[in-house]
Amino acid sequence: MRDAQPKAIYLKDYQQPDYWIERTELTFELQDEYTLVTAQLDCVRNEQAQPGAALLLAGQDLELLSLVLDGQPLTAGQYETGEESLTVHGLQERSQLEIQTRIYPAKNTALEGLYRSGGMYCTQCEAEGFRRITYYLDRPDVMSVFTTHIIADAAQFPVLLSNGNLVADCVDDGLHKVTWHDPHKKPAYLFALVAGDLRVKEDRFTTMNGRDVALKIFVEPQNIDKTDYALDALKRSMRWDEETYGREYDLDIFMIVAVDDFNMGAMENKGLNIFNSSCVLANPATATDAAYQRIEAIVAHEYFHNWSGNRVTCRDWFQLSLKEGFTVFRDACFSADMNSATVKRIEDANIMRTVQFAEDGGPMAHPVQPDSFIEISNFYTVTIYEKGSEVVGMLHKILGKDGFRKGSDLYFERHDGQAVTIYDFVQAMEDANHVDLTLFKRWYKQAGTPVVTVNSEYDADAQQLRLTLSQRCPDTPGQSNKLAQWIPVQLGLIGADGQDLAIDVEPAAAWTESSQVLHLTEAEQTFVFNGISEQPRLSLFRDFSAPVKVEFEQSADDLLFLLQHDSDGFNRWDAGQRLMLSWISAAQQGRFELLPQVRDVFARLLADESLDPAMVSCLLTLPSEAYIAEFSAQVDPLAIHAARKQVQQAIAASLVKEFSACYQRLQSTAAYAPVPAQMSARSLKNLALAYWVKGSADGLAQAVSQYRSADNMTDQMAALVAVVNSGASAQAEQLLGDFYQQWSQDALVVNQWLSVQAGSAELGRVEFIQQLLAHPAFDWRNPNKVRSVLGAFANQALCHFHREDGAGYRLLADAVLRLNDSNPQIAARLLTPLTKWRRLVPELSELMKAELQRIMQHDALSKDVYEVVSKSLI
Ligand code: PHE
Ligand code: ZN
Repeated sequence: MRDAQPKAIYLKDYQQPDYWIERTELTFELQDEYTLVTAQLDCVRNEQAQPGAALLLAGQDLELLSLVLDGQPLTAGQYETGEESLTVHGLQERSQLEIQTRIYPAKNTALEGLYRSGGMYCTQCEAEGFRRITYYLDRPDVMSVFTTHIIADAAQFPVLLSNGNLVADCVDDGLHKVTWHDPHKKPAYLFALVAGDLRVKEDRFTTMNGRDVALKIFVEPQNIDKTDYALDALKRSMRWDEETYGREYDLDIFMIVAVDDFNMGAMENKGLNIFNSSCVLANPATATDAAYQRIEAIVAHEYFHNWSGNRVTCRDWFQLSLKEGFTVFRDACFSADMNSATVKRIEDANIMRTVQFAEDGGPMAHPVQPDSFIEISNFYTVTIYEKGSEVVGMLHKILGKDGFRKGSDLYFERHDGQAVTIYDFVQAMEDANHVDLTLFKRWYKQAGTPVVTVNSEYDADAQQLRLTLSQRCPDTPGQSNKLAQWIPVQLGLIGADGQDLAIDVEPAAAWTESSQVLHLTEAEQTFVFNGISEQPRLSLFRDFSAPVKVEFEQSADDLLFLLQHDSDGFNRWDAGQRLMLSWISAAQQGRFELLPQVRDVFARLLADESLDPAMVSCLLTLPSEAYIAEFSAQVDPLAIHAARKQVQQAIAASLVKEFSACYQRLQSTAAYAPVPAQMSARSLKNLALAYWVKGSADGLAQAVSQYRSADNMTDQMAALVAVVNSGASAQAEQLLGDFYQQWSQDALVVNQWLSVQAGSAELGRVEFIQQLLAHPAFDWRNPNKVRSVLGAFANQALCHFHREDGAGYRLLADAVLRLNDSNPQIAARLLTPLTKWRRLVPELSELMKAELQRIMQHDALSKDVYEVVSKSLI
């Protein structure tokens, strides 16, 4: 156990700093063994601070070389260093402080601050990484104008980048020297620096006001043929933000850099986004359609941050969802506009209902605006991001498209250049629309997933339907007795002909016609629908209008009807999911049978060429094991796995002809392109193949043949996965070997190869995972590799992770301990599956808890791991 327990910090303790830093001038001298950093800070005392107040700077893993205040070198007594701080005395109302420090980027395995990745240098400063570069007021409410000088060996580092505009560039005596100046004030977490021998792909964009912007993507030389798609996605994002939000780009240059070693997906540094290479590089031979869509979404996300995050930033890290929730909402709408909106909504709802609901039901549950944390890195969560986005989406439903835009315009206008809170955002929405959102704000303060219970009664004589909705929200750590939240229920009443009935509801004020939303704002409310001439079928929470669980019994007949006829695509899919959940639960009790009328509906869907193929693919995909687990009080992962497999097998076996016909119909001779129509067709084709392989030997032969003839990674990978999952071990082994041979030189493809195996129920046994960890392609220092093997194992190969003797848990705990020292952020993220121990059947629960206790005993736990483990054991 660590000697001093890390302390939590609280939102309620927020105070402005005693000084601001108006100007920051940095000089980096990159040398082989270390880097010298000189920082000149123009400090200005905060009006609220006492004259003579000390300046308290944060710093971590820094060697302090010198300190000069207003031209005078400081000596002992005029400053103090603490373990992670520097206190300087004697500042005037305006003072200049010069700090020189030495840092060791090559030894930085945490990948925060300045570090080396392969032959290049790069930075990651969000959330608190800048303090590993120099002593600073490393907090987002301190916004400064940055000038950056970089000096490095000219041969090794032809490319030297930082934020803003390049204002000087020369080579002098073998040294490459550049100066970048960023005219926009920004917090230190948006600072970035890159140095390397990189190739660049360039393009241009003309903004809505006719300004010309240079677009550049920098990559290592071997990746220059993988930049086209990201560049195209960037231009589409820039146009979309102008059209949808009226937001124009504000520098003459926008750069993206791809790096292989990166803890997260990407980072929105001002004018210089840094991307995990897996989230930006693609060509048809190496990237799947899913990878293309992820790249499009992440490029957009980071670009959109230029306004929602950079121009208007967060006052403190408790406001993280201010930028992340809003920006995820923005990128989700963008993706919906570029592709199938319904399929995008289904994907997002799936993440909410599996990953986020599980977080809400576990020991790390926290509100969208948390009130305390030990390590902020642990709060880059699905709650902050995805639930935060859902909350913004509910505002959009409540205010309507135009009202929402008025609110966002006011928000950007009012707060441009400021560091603000989530409530400033809500206030702008209120002021622009003259509404009172007091009740709505509870979404930000209360953790947990609300449960809505539905009761309906139809009175044929009165031609009335009475709908009673009640809500409750379970206790979460530190929170009980929650208040009712404002829940928008988008709904339709469907007649026997499949058409929506006209809605006339009392109280009329609870209904918004434009968005078809009923407002549930109290613990229980009854709504009366008039003029209802037949017993309608209810379609509730259309478009996943609120992130809630719904308790509503509907008959299998009703669900089958909705699956075929609901005008809302999301609810068609959801009806199918609910049906399948009921089959899986029946299978767990040994009484499942696929009824002929169900089989016929599936057959019709497969043959229906009027439907979007990607949508059909969603409709026929079984709920994941993780989602199924959400419905059991005590989770038995092995039983869930077996039951799901049985249902899958039954569907495959009874529709062999239909799947093969669908597959044949969607075969295409067109050249591969990552465009929506093709991607949609491939998704259904490859789903059909996956079922066909399970249903017949012909399917297996077809999969092998598709693997051999594929000219793109989507088809090659889908065939490989189908063969691996078929259980045909000889063929699987052969193809996996071929695949590695073909791709061993391409790190991103090798990562896919690792994760297909590690996440597979057929292969992902503990002993096999150990072999993968020892494979030459694996590397503990690279987060993508760690995720590809250990992340895939613990989150997907559930039947092996939850092995009865606890060996799966032990493997993961060992990995967490190993990474605790080298990369605490990744260690803490990897822990998530172990935090779910309370939900498991007793035998497994005990074994998992024992592993957490073993981690807790470790001497030098990082704050990151300590926070997750200690909260999980409470
Ligand atoms: N702010 C980044 C994003 O959402 C995510 C990130 C957080 C990246 C912390 C690195 C470190 O796009
Ligand atoms: Zn973000």
